[in-house]
This record gives sequence, structure tokens and C-alpha cells, in this order.
Amino acid sequence: MATVKRIGVVGGGQMGSGIAQVATMHGVDVWLHDLDPQALSKASSSISSSIHRFVSKSHITQAKGAEALKRLRFTSNLEDFRLADFIIEAIVESEDVKKDLFVKLDKIAKSSAILASNTSSISITRLASSTSRPRQVIGMHFMNPPPVMKLIEIVRGADTSEETFAATKALAERMGKVVITSQDYSGFIVNRILMPMINEAFFALYTGVATKEDIDTGMKLGTNHPMGPLELADFIGLDVCLSIMRVLQAGLGDNKYAPCPLLVKYVDAGRLGRKRGVGVYEYHKESRSAKSSSRL
Ligand SMILES: NC(=O)c1ccc[n+]([C@@H]2O[C@H](COP(=O)([O-])OP(=O)(O)OC[C@H]3O[C@@H](n4cnc5c(N)ncnc54)[C@H](O)[C@@H]3O)[C@@H](O)[C@H]2O)c1
Repeated sequence: MATVKRIGVVGGGQMGSGIAQVATMHGVDVWLHDLDPQALSKASSSISSSIHRFVSKSHITQAKGAEALKRLRFTSNLEDFRLADFIIEAIVESEDVKKDLFVKLDKIAKSSAILASNTSSISITRLASSTSRPRQVIGMHFMNPPPVMKLIEIVRGADTSEETFAATKALAERMGKVVITSQDYSGFIVNRILMPMINEAFFALYTGVATKEDIDTGMKLGTNHPMGPLELADFIGLDVCLSIMRVLQAGLGDNKYAPCPLLVKYVDAGRLGRKRGVGVYEYHKESRSAKSSSRL
């Protein structure tokens, strides 16, 4: 495949906006789409303030920052993606909603375009099978926040071609990322290991083993993690963590992945973490661990 010039990112939430930012900062033209106009305006202001922070910390020049902002466009019309060479989906973690989107993208995108998903856990093979181009469907799993985190986990579906893999790896490396490759099993590498740990931290809280602060301090100072598991769950989004646990439980067929009732209860109550201002912890203006979670 020729070098990717223009990408489309679907979903302007915390991940989609970060992915769009990384791509535009590395010279790629980006269209960012969301169904929700408010999400797009929030994405626009968070990307521009993050790029300004990169400039003020001299990580990029002012000219490069200005060019990056010029390369970025926002749209609520998916048809604008017809000229994209590469499309990255970063919408809600629901297989049905993602499949609907892949069916639409398959019709709109040019025949050479690659369709990638940033899913944390959903089967790439099943998403691919909803399209007429399963060889050109792949997982491209960015870590949160994408402008800061170095890793991209690339997931090969059952039919993903070598050309698609090579083009995705080249794009990830062009964005300055380190690539690891996973086969398509629920949770891939990182979430297969991380989410059961977060779920276990919820069980420790649920069964009264310790306070949330002691669980997090224990894992930070006892195992050298930069954030405690409950803090990290708030940062990721408790709804996202719950969806991933359900995918692990169903996909790997083992009840050891059953989500902790306390995690379920928090999500039912709308306590989704930092994005809602309340999760395991409550967040006010100067939020907890703002430093480790900021885009820069
Ligand atoms: N949050 C994390 O730490 C993290 C890390 C890696 C991967 N992911 C994955 O990235 C994806 C997005 O997660 P997020 O945390 O950014 O979620 P989010 O809730 O912050 O954003 C999702 C966005 O998608 C939009 N959306 C929903 N359905 C849509 C549709 N059909 N078309 C267009 N836009 C639509 C919503 O309006 C919202 O703005 C999920 O698949 C998640 O599993 C999340």
C-alpha cells in the first residue's frame, strides 16, 4: 500500500481525539467524526490545548503545532471518509454498534482503504466478517492517552493480510510508537492481563479487604505501578472496564473473568470514572493524578 496520506477517525471521545492528535502531529491529514456534536467540540478544544502544551514545553515548534492543527478537520458526516486511505474506529465498546459502523464504513470507504479498530477486547475477526474486505481489517489498539503512551498493540484477525499488517505497522511507527502484535483472542495481550487485576482490586474493595486508598497505594509502592488499579480504572472508564471483563468472560469461556458486582453497581449508577467526575473516587477541578493522566 502507498504511504497513508489521509486518515479518518470515528469517535471523538478520549481515545479518538487522542488518536487524531497523534496522527496530525506526525504529518497525516485527519478527519475526526462523531455522531455527537458536543463530543466534537470538546475534542477540538482538548486537542488544541494539548498541542499548545507540547509547544510550550518545547516538544514541538510553534510552526509544527500550527501545521498539525491545520491538518485536522471535524465532521458529523461519515461520507467525508470516502477519500481516506486508513480509517480508525474508536467508538463505544459494543460489538453490535461497532459492526453497524463497519458495515457503513465498508460501503463508504474506497476499496483500497484499511479499516482498523481501537477496540480493547472485541474480536477483530468478527468485526472483519461484517465487511466485504476482511483482509483489510485489523486491530490498532492505542493506549490511553494516545499522545503520551508509546505502545500500539496490533491485532491480526483470522483473515488480515500481510499487506494490511505491514501498512498498519508502518503507520504506527510513523506516529513514533512501539508495536507489539497479538493474535485475535479476547483482551489481546495488555487487557487480558490488566483487566483481571483491576477486577480483583474491585473485589478487594467489595469484600472489605482494604480501603480504596490502601489498595492503590499498595500497588503503586509495592509493585512499582505508576497508578493504582482503582485510579487506573477511573481513568480508563468503568464502563470500558466492565465491557472488557464481559468480553473476556464470554470469549474465553471462564467464570474467573466474571465482573465484580461492585464494578457493575458503579456503572449502573453512572459512576463511570474521571470522564463523569465520579467513579471509585470523586474528581473536582484539580483532579487526582492529573499529572500521570494528562496528555502532556
Ligand atoms: N478508555 C481507554 O482507556 C481505552 C484505551 C484503549 C482503547 N479503548 C477503546 O477505545 C474505544 C473508545 O473508548 P473511549 O474511552 O474513547 O470512549 P468515549 O466514551 O470517551 O468515546 C466514545 C465516542 O464515540 C462516539 N460514538 C459512539 N457511537 C458512535 C457512532 N456509531 N459513530 C460515531 N461516533 C460514535 C461517542 O459519541 C463518544 O464521543 C472503545 O472501543 C474502547 O474500548 C479505550
